[in-house]
Amino acid sequence: MTSLSLLLWIVSAIVLQVAIFLAIGFWHHWRNYQSLRGSLAADLAGPAAPPEPNDVGAAAWTGYRTFRVDRKVVEDAAQSVCSFYLVPEDGEALPPFLPGQFLTFRLELPKVSGDSEQVVRCYSLSDAPRPEAYRVSIKRLPLGRSSNFFHDQVRVGSRLQVRAPAGHFYLDRSDSPVVLIGGGIGITPLLSMLNWCLAEQPGREIWLFYGLRHGCELVMGAALKELAAAHPNFHLHLCYSDPEPADQLPHESSHRGRIDLSLLRLTLPLKPYHFYICGPASLMESLVPALEEWGVPDSRIHFEAFGPASVKPRPAAAGLGAVPAPRRAVEAADIVVTFARSGRQFAWRPGAGSLLEFAETNGVAVDSGCRAGGCGTCQTTIRAGEVVYRQTPDYDPDPGSCLLCVCEPKTSVTLEV
Ligand code: FES
Repeated sequence: MTSLSLLLWIVSAIVLQVAIFLAIGFWHHWRNYQSLRGSLAADLAGPAAPPEPNDVGAAAWTGYRTFRVDRKVVEDAAQSVCSFYLVPEDGEALPPFLPGQFLTFRLELPKVSGDSEQVVRCYSLSDAPRPEAYRVSIKRLPLGRSSNFFHDQVRVGSRLQVRAPAGHFYLDRSDSPVVLIGGGIGITPLLSMLNWCLAEQPGREIWLFYGLRHGCELVMGAALKELAAAHPNFHLHLCYSDPEPADQLPHESSHRGRIDLSLLRLTLPLKPYHFYICGPASLMESLVPALEEWGVPDSRIHFEAFGPASVKPRPAAAGLGAVPAPRRAVEAADIVVTFARSGRQFAWRPGAGSLLEFAETNGVAVDSGCRAGGCGTCQTTIRAGEVVYRQTPDYDPDPGSCLLCVCEPKTSVTLEV
């Protein structure tokens, strides 16, 4: 064999290898493209199938039920997040719930005068449904009376009044890959989704982007890292906005900075994901519009804000008992909202949000808990007029009353508050 023919053989072998490599790459991209196209076509053809409630869509019990704290566990190095394991005092079975739902607590908070004051607060369940106990994980907030009450005064053996799990922010049961995005203590419902998904849909691809300031705030860090090591289809990404030297950056699964679209685009292969986002309002307000601009259909973006967020509200999915707003008999500009006890009256503005947000914007004080129709704290008597619900509440308001956090006026309305 001459040196020329040897050279030709070598070149041919290299060209063949490159061609095979390119063909495999092209085939992978083509498969992703076809899967993405099929999913987008389904989205365009009509509303996506609603998340399928797993036979626990209705409230598991009515009113409040007494639970006992069985265990209390600190979950982060900063000791600012504590988990409470709750068992029903009546010893009856513990109903399951949808991963991502919350519990509503009626608390008796002590006052300086020696009396106590009743407040209602909602906290996300932070674990998959398990027969032995519910778990909530609560962050101590400097001015948070209820969170400080939990941390300082709720102990093993304490009794708590708890409403049934509720909420419409829960994981769908399709086999689409899922991206969970949590900011700060917004991680808690996502932990429930993650644990449920790994247990019940072990083959499903799942990504978790967890935004926090530094490693001391990492909640259940060891458990998350163990899960990532044990499940090849679970991808954990920690995003530190103010990292400390111990956080060992950069690292392939740890990033400096906040979670944003450029990080998602760099990290996620092109696939038809469902996105679940929970965290402070600023996270929603930056990420939700960015995902929409990226081309993610509305039906694949699910979010829940802690505190008020100005992300446009979504109607509840069909099949969840949504009550679509009917055509208005009265133009919005003609609608007047009267807060009777406060003695104040305002012209309704389209896009003002819920009646709760409208009241707060106008300086009318209204008690609220979940802000999602789940706890009943904002229930108010309607003296005159009609309201329309933006989504089906989990709490059944008394006849003649409404839940301000999930409704808006249909006509001019006079409210008791
Ligand atoms: S604040 Fe909970 S139902 Fe309105």
